[in-house]
Amino acid sequence: MARIHDVIVLGGGAAGLFCAITAARRGRSVVVLDHADKLGKKILISGGGRCNFTNRFVGPGNFLSSNPHFCRSALARFSPDDFIALVEAHGIPYHEKKLGQLFCDGSAKEIVEMLLAECATSGAVIETGCRIDRVENASAGFTLATSSGEFTASRLVVATGGLSIPTIGATDIGYRIARQFSVAVVPTEPALVPFTLPSASGFAELSGVAVDAEVRGGGGEFNESILFTHAGLSGPAILQISSYWRRDQPITVDLLPGADIAAMLGEAKRTGSKSLASTHLAERLPKRLVQRWSAVHGCDRPVAQLSTKEAAAIADSFHRWTVVPSGTEGYRKAEVTRGGIDTTELSSQTLECRRVPGLHFIGEVVDVTGWLGGFNFQWAWASGHAAGSAV
Ligand code: FDA
Repeated sequence: MARIHDVIVLGGGAAGLFCAITAARRGRSVVVLDHADKLGKKILISGGGRCNFTNRFVGPGNFLSSNPHFCRSALARFSPDDFIALVEAHGIPYHEKKLGQLFCDGSAKEIVEMLLAECATSGAVIETGCRIDRVENASAGFTLATSSGEFTASRLVVATGGLSIPTIGATDIGYRIARQFSVAVVPTEPALVPFTLPSASGFAELSGVAVDAEVRGGGGEFNESILFTHAGLSGPAILQISSYWRRDQPITVDLLPGADIAAMLGEAKRTGSKSLASTHLAERLPKRLVQRWSAVHGCDRPVAQLSTKEAAAIADSFHRWTVVPSGTEGYRKAEVTRGGIDTTELSSQTLECRRVPGLHFIGEVVDVTGWLGGFNFQWAWASGHAAGSAV
């Protein structure tokens, strides 16, 4: 005998749990099905274990999508302040780290516990360890054949997230369900992910060097730190630009933004400096970085011997360092998945499929990808709230 509910939410991550809470609070009978043994695993590992649960300054400009306006409606109807109010009502201490990013003072566990407590009080039922074998849509609604038996509901909300970090349970089931119902999917790619550089480029010797930089590429531009790694490049500015990057495209990095290296070297020469250009540069940049640049760009010459053209070339090598990543570290390291359920298939108000009444897609599985900094969780809460208010 199938268990009958008003709403089946498939996936008990951030978006699924928030949708379930919103719908159950409205008196709907809701069941959350998840194959994982416990819920909210991505929340637990987020923000270095402290969960950057939202951002004070959220707008459509903080998201990538084939339709940049799609997220507008859901974001407007459930704001960061709404989520902050819930966090405060549960007495969870938090702080702003930088750029409006809000983190728990203690642990991301508190956010998961808050969501599970809200599920319990609103009456949403949770079924973990539930393998999904089949999804069918008939006149009675959607029926899911699972390892925990059959579930039927007139509404099915797919909240199964993206492909990042398969080791904690990410799968492609959301995209497969979309294809089963002939719902278009924008091709997926790892995003918010470190770059790899060709091993012959020799940048691995800079592993561990971090510097504040301005990074451009693919139409994006971010001013934050970058980090050289054994494999290539990481750090907030790199993760951000990776969401805009397309294979074989170059990225351009200003390694000393806001400064004018040519003017700095010119001034040193004018005042009679006997030092090497690299000595002057090392006052403003990590020594190892300057050494690496010296070998390639000739900064190890006395500043007094540099012509204006040579000083300009050195400046250019730092202000406009152009590099073509060989790839990314993939879904194993990506924080999110770019692409997903094509937004032209969905109502921006309810996240319901136009062509399949009763079928909704929310959260990361949709072609809406947030910047680093709490934006992806805000999309999960807001899209979950939008669908949960409609189902
Ligand atoms: P989410 O992935 O959270 O949930 C999907 C659920 O579906 C999971 O519970 C999964 O088990 C279930 N599922 C998948 N396949 C299934 C199947 N076949 N059968 C049944 N169930 C299935 N964002 C942010 O805003 N601030 C931050 O600090 C961070 N930090 C961060 C760190 C790291 C390391 C990662 C990987 C990601 C982040 N993110 C983040 C991104 C954020 O975690 C992500 O965008 C949201 O969790 C997406 O929420 P969803 O509910 O859509 O998917």
